Parts: sequence; C-alpha cells; structure tokens
Amino acid sequence: MKISVIGTGYVGLVAGACFADTGNDVICIDHDANKIARLQRGEIPFFEPGLGELVAHNVAEGRLSFTTDLASGVAGARVAFIAVGTPMSDDGEADLRAVKDVARAIAQAMTGPMIIVNKSTVPVGTNRLLRGLIRETARYPLDIVSNPEFLKEGAAIEDFMKPDRVVIGTDSPEAAEVMRDIYAPFVRTGKPILEMDPESAEVSKYAANSLLATKITFMNEVARICEVVGADVSKVRQGIGSDARIGHQFLFPGVGYGGSCFPKDIRAFTLLGRRKNAPLQILEVVERVNSEQKRLLAQKVVRRFGEKLQGRVFAIWGLAFKPKTDDMREAPSLVVIDELLARGARVRAFDPEARKTAAAILGDRIEITERPYEALAGASALLALTEWNEFRRPDFDRIKSLLEEPVIFDGRNMYDAARVMKLGFEYYGIGVRDSAYE
Ligand SMILES: NC(=O)c1ccc[n+]([C@@H]2O[C@H](COP(=O)([O-])OP(=O)(O)OC[C@H]3O[C@@H](n4cnc5c(N)ncnc54)[C@H](O)[C@@H]3O)[C@@H](O)[C@H]2O)c1
Repeated sequence: MKISVIGTGYVGLVAGACFADTGNDVICIDHDANKIARLQRGEIPFFEPGLGELVAHNVAEGRLSFTTDLASGVAGARVAFIAVGTPMSDDGEADLRAVKDVARAIAQAMTGPMIIVNKSTVPVGTNRLLRGLIRETARYPLDIVSNPEFLKEGAAIEDFMKPDRVVIGTDSPEAAEVMRDIYAPFVRTGKPILEMDPESAEVSKYAANSLLATKITFMNEVARICEVVGADVSKVRQGIGSDARIGHQFLFPGVGYGGSCFPKDIRAFTLLGRRKNAPLQILEVVERVNSEQKRLLAQKVVRRFGEKLQGRVFAIWGLAFKPKTDDMREAPSLVVIDELLARGARVRAFDPEARKTAAAILGDRIEITERPYEALAGASALLALTEWNEFRRPDFDRIKSLLEEPVIFDGRNMYDAARVMKLGFEYYGIGVRDSAYE
C-alpha cells in the first residue's frame, strides 16, 4: 500500500520507517528542505536509537523515500498520516496551523479516495474540524481518522513496533478496516486495536499523558515530604510500586518532567477543560507543581552556596529532557541553567547526545564539553540532571579530584546517598537522607 507521512520529526519519521519496514511503499514529506536534503543523503536529523539503521535499510530496499513536494508525495496514496508539530501557542493552546494547512493541501492534491490519519496530538474536536475544512476541497471520498501516537522518545521504534495498544478514532467502518490492515503486523502478540469515536481517541491521548505527568508530579511531592520527615523516597517508591494497582513505572522523583509532549499536552488539556466549563483541577496543580520542581535543584544549590554565585562554575551532566534523546524541549536543565546564570554563576555542561541541540538553544551562555569529566575541573559542584547510563557508575575518585569542592546535586537519585557521602562527598538528592538531612 502506498502511504504518505507528512512531518518527519520524531513521530513521522519513526512511523514512516516502521510502516516501510512492514512492506508498505512509504513517502515521507516535510516542508523543511534542509531536513529532507539530510534524509536524502542518509543522515538522521535527530538522535533516536536504531532509527538510522531502520531508515537506511528501508531506503535501500526501495520502500522509503523523502520529498518536500506534498502534491507529488500524496499522489496515488491510499492513506496519508499527518505527524506535524502542534506546539504550544502563546495562549497555551495547541497550535493547529500546520495540521490544518496539511489537511487542506492533501485534499487539494489527492488523486483518488483517501484516508487522512491524524497522528499529531490535537485538541478534542479537531477531527470534526478537519472534516469541515476539507469538505469543499476534496475531489474524492475522504475519511479522517484520529490515531494518537503513544511512542516515547528514546524507545520510539520499540514502542511503535510493539505498541501496548493502537487507538483508532473514526466513524467510518471502511477507514477502520484499512487501519486494522496497516497495524496488523504490529499487534501480532495480541495487543488490542481499540476502535472508538474520534473524540474519545483525542481525549485518550491527552488523558494518558496527563495521568503519567500526574504520577511523576505526585511522586515529586512525596519526595518533598520524605525530605522533611527523614524518609527515603526510593524505599517509599518500592513500597507503593509493588502494589499491582499502582505499578513501578513513572514513580521516579526528579527535577520535573519536560519534553515536547507532557508540558504542552497538560496545558492544552487544562485549557480545554476551562473553555468547556469542565475544569481539570488536578492538572492545573500538576503544572504548577512541576514548574516549581524544575527550580528545586537550583534552590538546593542556593541553600548550599548562597544567593551570590559570581566566580563559581557549576558542572552539569545531562541536558536532554530524558536519556536516549537529544531533545531539549522544555528540559528541566534549561530552568536550572537560567537560575544559575541569573545568580552570576558560570555553567559547564556535558550531554552524550544533546550537545548540538544545547549549543543551538544556549549559544555561548554556557560552555559545552566533549567529555563528561572535562565539565568538572574547578567546579563548585556537579549537578546530575539526566539519568544517562554512562553517568550511573562514574569514577567518584576522579570526580572528587576534579571538583573544587566535593559536592554532588543528584537530580535523578542515580547515586546511593550513604555510599557517596561515605566517599567524602556532600550529597544532595531528591527526597532522600542526604547531607541536608544529616
Ligand atoms: N515526540 C514525541 O515523543 C511524541 C509522541 C507522541 C505524539 N507526539 C505528537 O506528534 C506530533 C509531532 O511531534 P514530533 O515530536 O514528531 O514533532 P517534530 O517537531 O519533531 O516534527 C514535526 C515535523 O513536522 C514538520 N512540519 C511542520 N509543519 C509542516 C507543514 N506545514 N508541512 C510539512 N511538514 C511540516 C516540521 O518541519 C517537523 O519536521 C505532535 O503533535 C506531538 O505532540 C509526539
């Protein structure tokens, strides 16, 4: 089947490569000429484990190609997936301009009956809105399906190839059948394809991200109480996560959630609630608590070193919003860096994959090193912000010899507080018995 995918970001490129890998003839379209040129040269424009190999293989097999020309890319396709960005607009709502533009352009370019499948995360009601938008223009029968994407950056291919579920929101039985056909290879282990009306599909996406963000935020608050009563949130996490009704995932406290999805989706869902007079009160608080959490580590630094940080350098390990990605959208590191710079400190940082992203965002506001230990020389403390594997078992003697003072702020509780303190460090974690408690 010929499939077009519009938008070659984390979602579109992964979806396109995975659809090609199951034998479809896939063309990926993007209006960013530079991105398409890089893809045509065999370069992957962002870091996602395994994606380079998957794309190269399917390009070599002649099943995957790239273009900036939407009209030729859509011609002859049975299905077009929309996977363009829906960033947060100034008022906090999802910016639907790209989704609408692309839907209109597909309706104009179609050369036969088609199904437009929206994978971008969009406010409830967008499916119907798009239907209204293209009704006049479409020259052939055109169905619109809502097919929210649940993949995680850093494990995107695994998630796409083996989804926990596929959600298909449509009122059209014919479109649902085509979708079942496309997704059949990905659900062979019996994971469900859930068919529902478009509104329920759209709410499912926002509700899933909202619940996950709430779980993280709840644990961040539990960590705060642990700190003041002398409990250890890592023990508490196990104590509650072992309950099958709760589960172990998303219970790790840290420096707040970031990324391209949670912050904007929680904001958009909250606004939708307000607009529809069905306020999502829990989420309103989640957002506020998370913003505070992003400042927590810098506050710990201030508590230790004082408000005036002029003349000090702080070393940061981890800039990406989570490991295995180079994405820094809404990353907690950006808030921590702002807080340190605002107090006159200098920042020297290392990240295994996000160095280029960081340089593009931060320019020369911070120094970015090529190796982790280079960031440490003469620094007043190490701040660990992203739990990359390579930071998990570092050479503590080397850290100690390089730092001006042996102080670690561990924003991800990667290190055992008691052990690190025994090694002669001052250690500050999240919700654990650390040097602040001693
Ligand atoms: N990143 C994730 O982990 C993730 C997971 C699930 C859902 N989503 C949702 O999927 C959507 C895409 O997210 P992403 O992270 O892949 O975004 P992205 O920013 O990485 O990629 C979006 C791509 O769309 C292209 N684009 C924008 N407007 C276009 C237009 N008019 N015509 C052609 N191309 C256009 C951009 O050039 C870019 O390459 C968003 O709605 C997001 O919320 C993202």
